[in-house]
Parts: sequence; C-alpha cells; structure tokens
Amino acid sequence: MFISLNDDQVEMVTVFFEDRELSVRKGLPIAAALLEAGVAHFRNAPVTGAARAPFCMMGICFDCVLIIDGMPNQQSCMVEVRDGMRLARQSGLADVMSGSDKEQLSI
Ligand code: FES
Repeated sequence: MFISLNDDQVEMVTVFFEDRELSVRKGLPIAAALLEAGVAHFRNAPVTGAARAPFCMMGICFDCVLIIDGMPNQQSCMVEVRDGMRLARQSGLADVMSGSDKEQLSI
C-alpha cells in the first residue's frame, strides 16, 4: 500500500499491534508506520461499528485513534513510534474516567 522512498540507513524499532510484532521505521508517526506495515483497520466507528483507518494524517479526523500503551483515544498520526510500544485497535468510544471519578460525578 505505502512504499518508503528512502530506505538507506534507516533505523528500525519494534512495536506490537494487537498480537502482531512489527518492525517499523524509527521517527515515523504511528499511523504512517502501521500503514506502511500493512495495517488498514485502526478503530471501529462508535455508532455503526464500521472499520476506520487514518484519513487526514494531521490530527483533524480522529479516524486513526488507537489505544497506545494502555491509553485510549490517542491520535496515532500525532505520536511518534517508540521501541516496544503496545498498540491496540479501539472499538467505539473509550471510557475515559475511572470508577471513582464516575461516582463523584453521579451525585
Ligand atoms: S489521521 Fe486524522 S486525526 Fe489522525
């Protein structure tokens, strides 16, 4: 799908997407690195459940949202890959509050 134009002397890092170990180019945004590695399904739409993938690559559309190292709702086009990152597909809206936070708001 995507081909790098400059592969000479490129440093690689290892990331984990779902159960896959991927070797990706250091310095890329996560979204670009995953697309280059052949990942085309990043999240599921909250209402329809439709598969979504990065569209704008500049922080506008939110179609690249992933769970990054356990943190949901992260725009993968805005975060650089780091060695050992754990990446997961996000389905729908993530719960952004812990149980105690929710209890405080439900007075
Ligand atoms: S690809 Fe649009 S916000 Fe990341």
